[in-house]
Amino acid sequence: MSSRLQDKHALLTGAAGGIGLAVAAAYLEQGSRCTVADIGAQPTPELAALLDSHPDRLQYLPTDVTQMAQIDALIDAATQRFGPISTLFNNAALFDMAPLLESHEAMYDKLFAVNVKGAFFVMQKVLAHMVAHGAKGCAVVNMASQAGRRGEALVSHYCASKAAVISYTQSAALAMAPHKIRVNAISPGVIATPMWQHVDALFAKYENLPLGEKKKRVGEAVPLGYMGDPTDICGAAIFLASDEASYVTAQTLNVDGGNVMS
Ligand SMILES: NC(=O)c1ccc[n+]([C@@H]2O[C@H](COP(=O)([O-])OP(=O)(O)OC[C@H]3O[C@@H](n4cnc5c(N)ncnc54)[C@H](O)[C@@H]3O)[C@@H](O)[C@H]2O)c1
Repeated sequence: MSSRLQDKHALLTGAAGGIGLAVAAAYLEQGSRCTVADIGAQPTPELAALLDSHPDRLQYLPTDVTQMAQIDALIDAATQRFGPISTLFNNAALFDMAPLLESHEAMYDKLFAVNVKGAFFVMQKVLAHMVAHGAKGCAVVNMASQAGRRGEALVSHYCASKAAVISYTQSAALAMAPHKIRVNAISPGVIATPMWQHVDALFAKYENLPLGEKKKRVGEAVPLGYMGDPTDICGAAIFLASDEASYVTAQTLNVDGGNVMS
């Protein structure tokens, strides 16, 4: 085990699978205690296996990040067991898409409830907790997306929700600079996770493609030549959470094999 996150306590939302679970495993590997929150009442089998191998440094707390009282309860329960939170990996999100003229209020409300409202209030409440506990060594890593860097005809609400994450990252970084709490974001490109099964099926429907074709094409289009694995996000997630990034704040780091240059 390395020790780049020794003595830290990370709260990771939406981390029962996909990128969040890979980052939880990486944070544990670097010495952090980890609280994982996700919407399911029970941990996924993958998370259950990680809980079994780290019973003293990992806990799972079912939480719906759209519910303010549940966010408060999450912070209370997380800190009761593992002490003050030093790292927030703010990762929970949903994906949906439709042609712009066919997209409807329910889709907008659902995506913005999790990706924007949930992400903002988890961040705000954890930042308040960090300030109250002295803020030393504290950092937030928000999960944005290359979708937040530009619009897409079929993906307007998800793109807008991730642009909001980039904007909130910048505002929060400035608001927290006096406390020396750093707030950054990671902008993945295309990463093979459970979310992509859903993304691929929707593109198949709207672009009249066979299942699997969109996933294959976007992977081949990445300059580095392949779709990322959740573990491809871990290096950036560790760096931004660690004291090695002590002079890095307000940034959104592209981790996308070269898809976006900014
Ligand atoms: N996979 C990609 O290609 C990709 C690309 C860019 C950005 N991202 C972003 O990376 C992050 C992780 O995505 P992923 O690909 O691992 O997807 P994922 O679907 O595996 O993970 C998202 C998690 O969020 C959880 N979640 C959803 N609603 C919730 C709620 N109300 N409360 C608590 N948890 C909730 C889900 O249960 C799920 O475990 C997301 O923010 C996503 O937008 C993913």
